[in-house]
Amino acid sequence: MTATVQIDLPEKASKRKRNLLDFADWSADEVGALFDTADVMAQVLTRTIKKVPALQGFTVGTLFFEDSTRTRLSFERAARAQSADVISFAAGGSSLSKGESLKDTLRTIDQMQADLYVVRHPVAGVPHQLARWTDASIVNAGDGRRAHPTQALLDAYTFRSRFEGFDGFEGKRLAIVGDVLHSRVARSNVELWRKLGGEVVLCGPAPLLPREVAAGVRHTHRLADAVEGAHAVMALRLQRERMASGLLPSVAEYVTRYQLTEEALAMADNHALVMHPGPINRDVEIASDVADGPRSVIEAQVASGVPIRMAVLYTLLVGKR
Ligand code: CP
Repeated sequence: MTATVQIDLPEKASKRKRNLLDFADWSADEVGALFDTADVMAQVLTRTIKKVPALQGFTVGTLFFEDSTRTRLSFERAARAQSADVISFAAGGSSLSKGESLKDTLRTIDQMQADLYVVRHPVAGVPHQLARWTDASIVNAGDGRRAHPTQALLDAYTFRSRFEGFDGFEGKRLAIVGDVLHSRVARSNVELWRKLGGEVVLCGPAPLLPREVAAGVRHTHRLADAVEGAHAVMALRLQRERMASGLLPSVAEYVTRYQLTEEALAMADNHALVMHPGPINRDVEIASDVADGPRSVIEAQVASGVPIRMAVLYTLLVGKR
């Protein structure tokens, strides 16, 4: 059944943008408009019929060259909730195994007339390359360790949604703890949080912190320093799939020094949120009771992924009409 329920969207949200590869060409106002659009989408998702015809006639392709649970499913949910058609490509089981190149794969899928591709790839820069090869819009759903912009959007949106009368990111501090070096989530959160006027502190053992930290971003090897006064503390998984062997001599030592525990969180702001982009490794980077505790918004982050990705699809596609 196609619902005829209408939505009343903020005017700024309809400004034409072609791609979301990172935040380089997105202004703070444009991100704010995305959040306002996500608020409208979140309202839609509270209705009995959680579907609007906003993107009827559009086709969204999800191109995943790397595993995903949250990102792929929430993009598909976000597309269908706006009545778009969805085609899905996963590298496993595709003709890539028969020697087809990335470009020929894209050219093949392009014949199915998708208007927008959501792309995840283990190699940094692939979404940018695909954007040069197709007229369809591209949304970066994670490229190597470079960027994962919709994860950062849903993280910031979750943070914003948790404070009554939220008055902006200025004066708010996000502490990101763990394997920052291999984390595209950390890079996108630094980029976005700073764009919105917030403060970021990065924390982890020396081999897991990048040598080059963005201007104005503090880093520390002491968890207590990072957590003190933080308004949100985000734990990151050890990303072994992107990690050279020998970087971390002892997981047990890492757990002792960097695991987010209630004790470690004692010095955070009274209302501090505990975040994690997922998937979590319980009792490694985060204690299980903290992951399930009252400060944790880990499941709320997943839920925010749907309205945020609805807003991204809407913003990029509606201008194509
Ligand atoms: N946070 C995140 O990107 O999760 P998935 O790998 O499950 O999509």
